[in-house]
Amino acid sequence: MTNVSIIGTGSFLPEDTLNNRDMEVMVDTTDEWILTRTGIRERRICPRNMATSDLGYRASLLACEDASISPSEIDFIIVATVTPDKFFPSTACLIQSKLGIKNIPVFDLSAACTGFIYALETARNFISCKTYKTGLVVANECMSRLTDYTDRSICVLLGDGAGAAIVRASDEPGLLGSYLGADGSYEEMLHAPAGGSFLPASFDTIENHLHYMKMEGSALFKIAIQSMSESVNKILDAHNLKKDDLKIVVPHQANMRIIQGVARSLGMPAEKFFVNIEKYGNMSAACIPIALDEAGRSGFLKKGDLIVTVAFGGGLTWGANLIKWTK
Ligand code: ACO
Repeated sequence: MTNVSIIGTGSFLPEDTLNNRDMEVMVDTTDEWILTRTGIRERRICPRNMATSDLGYRASLLACEDASISPSEIDFIIVATVTPDKFFPSTACLIQSKLGIKNIPVFDLSAACTGFIYALETARNFISCKTYKTGLVVANECMSRLTDYTDRSICVLLGDGAGAAIVRASDEPGLLGSYLGADGSYEEMLHAPAGGSFLPASFDTIENHLHYMKMEGSALFKIAIQSMSESVNKILDAHNLKKDDLKIVVPHQANMRIIQGVARSLGMPAEKFFVNIEKYGNMSAACIPIALDEAGRSGFLKKGDLIVTVAFGGGLTWGANLIKWTK
């Protein structure tokens, strides 16, 4: 088996911003409620003339630049998203075309907020089996296009963005392993009911706002803490590591209180958790690669540092990657 490492990361956030004061004008909420209940101050919104693949394309270019490679060196692309530009072709095909690459395998992967973690593990296996050498993993979301801006319990949470990583066969191990899980019996706890083959678009689905994301927030809150804590414990146990061995945990940014709850449940200091939720809110699968890119670029991560990424999301899905920083 071949070792696999992350050799470059990139992220792209659209400039348009909705802050909590803007939300106060749109729905019956307050800056104070949003900040104390979620930790979010503002979120980025994709402009109407752009779609998910445009965000992912820009993050991919930055990841290539960071890795000092040309897009032509990419052997496959995996894109995690629940907000594809279209049902088909895949967002991966659209990013491939924008990058000007031909004749490589590319596909989308749907695991909601856990999408980047699933995609990184898939890429690790593609490379470690020696099938391919260099992969582009992208997680990009336009959550604003799935958001009902009349529903105060959801619209304050979500934002748009994209993150990307270049992974490559390497001498030293970088992607050490993953723990992945799912339970489809929770389908309706977090979903977009209409628009697919189950409930195709109709006047009725539009009138009843059924194309937007729906969730049971309080029930999810508890499952999120439990599944993310369990994922961190499982990945550490599988590699005979202690929590103290980790430089940071990069968690999904759904709610500051969920992140604090995971830290408490694991008995770890909250400072070990990388947090940028204040600036961007919940961008589903894009949260983790954006956070990883920001942590890397800040100079905080040093070669050899151990990192765990951890998320939960629609499905429900959950999981964690164990990464040694090799850049
Ligand atoms: N502003 C003001 N009041 C609000 C708002 C708002 N934006 N939203 C809800 N409230 C009210 C509720 O109506 C309720 O009022 P009531 O007591 O009069 O009935 C009160 O605030 C408390 O509501 P709760 O839902 O109990 O509030 P909670 O503290 O649980 O916070 C939240 C809600 C933020 C949604 C939290 O439950 C949460 O973060 N859950 C997890 C969300 C999540 O992670 N989703 C999955 C990821 S999303 C994805 O996959 C893309």
